[in-house]
Amino acid sequence: MSAGVWSRYGISLLAVLAAIQIVVGCGGKEIVKVGIESNFRPFTYTEGGENKGFEIELWQEIAKKANIKYELVPMKSSELTKAIKSGEVELAIAGMTVNKARKENFAFSDPYFQTGLVILTASDNKEIKGKDDLDRKVIATKLGSTAYIYASGIQGIKEVRGYPDISEAYNQLINKSVDAVIFDERNVHDFQQNTGKGKVKIVGEVLNKESYAVVADKKSKYIGRINQAIAAVAKDGTYETLYAKWFGGQPAKLPGQ
Ligand code: ARG
Repeated sequence: MSAGVWSRYGISLLAVLAAIQIVVGCGGKEIVKVGIESNFRPFTYTEGGENKGFEIELWQEIAKKANIKYELVPMKSSELTKAIKSGEVELAIAGMTVNKARKENFAFSDPYFQTGLVILTASDNKEIKGKDDLDRKVIATKLGSTAYIYASGIQGIKEVRGYPDISEAYNQLINKSVDAVIFDERNVHDFQQNTGKGKVKIVGEVLNKESYAVVADKKSKYIGRINQAIAAVAKDGTYETLYAKWFGGQPAKLPGQ
């Protein structure tokens, strides 16, 4: 056979391989990179080299139902949205609160967790009993978070200090360098029960109604399937089982209610 015939076979073989790859890709067999946070207990955190948390397990169930193959990519929360923008990851599940400003830049799934913000102060603080007692007080929280935006809007506040990692804000409170921390309810609760036990207390009521959703690049084709899967885990009891395991008791509202 002449070299010309071989190369013609070669080309058609490549074309067949390419076609197979396209078909496999459409079948959802590609591996989707999903950003998670390494320090947002009890939702997503890394401990002893393992990814743990309510969101890690919830995502596992969602992905199973949505037929999405994935790889988790742990990072700092400040890197999450950048990683979506740059294409390093396509999706993220990391206690991401849905709000209007973020919706302009990203796509969100249906919410899967209802929550809010709370005030944490030192156990022996007798002045701060709620939001109305924050006049001329110094608040610590996480930079770029919804809590940072919320705290900055409280009338009469002296200063809001933002830290890249929430652990630093908690440390400032333990050291009494700040008067209070405002942050996501469940994360504050976790800190108060573990590292901060005996040193801090939650005061007042839940401040800002927020809900968490999966965040994605606006071009992502997965949001529809993820929404169907969220509805399915709510319907078949999987959501309630995971909720009971991580938070105890029953959720006030199931996703979609
Ligand atoms: N829910 C808050 C927000 O979206 C704080 C989240 C901080 N942690 C995280 N993994 N994103 O701003």
